[in-house]
Amino acid sequence: MSLRDALRIPSAQITDETVYRQRRALLGALAMTPAIAMSGCGAAEPPPPPRAPPTPAQVRSGFRTDEEPTRYEDITSYNNFYEFGTGKADPSRAARTLRTSPWSVQVGGECEKPGTLALEDLLKGLRPEERVYRLRCVEGWSMVIPWLGVPLAAVLKKFAPTSKAKYVAFTTLADPRQMPGLAYRSINWPYREGLRIDEAMHPLTLLATGLYGKPLPQQNGAPLRLVVPWKYGFKSIKSIVEIRFVEKMPRTAWHDLQPSEYGFFSNVNPQVDHPRWSQKTERRIAGSASKLFAERIPTRLFNGYGEQVASMYAGMDLGKWY
Ligand code: MTE
Repeated sequence: MSLRDALRIPSAQITDETVYRQRRALLGALAMTPAIAMSGCGAAEPPPPPRAPPTPAQVRSGFRTDEEPTRYEDITSYNNFYEFGTGKADPSRAARTLRTSPWSVQVGGECEKPGTLALEDLLKGLRPEERVYRLRCVEGWSMVIPWLGVPLAAVLKKFAPTSKAKYVAFTTLADPRQMPGLAYRSINWPYREGLRIDEAMHPLTLLATGLYGKPLPQQNGAPLRLVVPWKYGFKSIKSIVEIRFVEKMPRTAWHDLQPSEYGFFSNVNPQVDHPRWSQKTERRIAGSASKLFAERIPTRLFNGYGEQVASMYAGMDLGKWY
């Protein structure tokens, strides 16, 4: 499979933004006047086939949500990617210099089959799936993003982790020639993140290669980024070049910078305020709401994925900032 193929999804499965936007209207029309809507009456081109809305089972699994998706233009122009600057608009401008092909990922540590693999080999045999997840940034804004990606577990299993692999550590590329933000010590580069092995193997944890059915734009962490929807967004590390299975809890960039503000676990929790601001609500950037005037909505424990993930934290004091 070529890289191009690896990053693509069969067109029938792509949720085009227009389809998203039209889905509600189309479904409404279908419900009211099925015969007319189905025949594409009067239109030169038949309307794009409306994709079925998420089934209750998909919503229960957390793989899909029927909440209004954030617009593609907002997802790709309001970013955190400090390697390209600390302003929200910096990455969409500056990340054009990021070369995403060829790309390889080094996988090692406590596993039987370590290796450095070209991205297309890393993803070989895995079909990208669409997952529509909420993303809650620790800063207090959130989006609904239709990702394309493969379960992280499916990739990790290829390397046969040993029983000593208690955690997984991830590292972002750090190349000052491509990443102007590295000139500033906003973070102790390279950007590093980590998960406990059960979190890494959880079915909701995704390695994203695209969004809205298209390859991932550079500013969103191309060509490969982590998505952990029940944790604050900073755990979802971008442009990954290294994955290591480790025995001890790995050091992570934000925790190193400010341990009292950014914990290793960092599960979304409205009851635990950030030391400098409340986490009770969030500014949801979605649909037609502009990023400046997006409405505030209550933040949910585990970002609304408690049913799927809470059991992993049984016995842990969620009131503490882990
Ligand atoms: N990964 C790297 N390498 N560098 C970063 O600055 N920012 C994080 C996370 N991953 C970041 C990163 C933060 S704070 C958030 S909220 C999300 O990426 C934002 O992802 P998005 O820009 O695709 O919405």
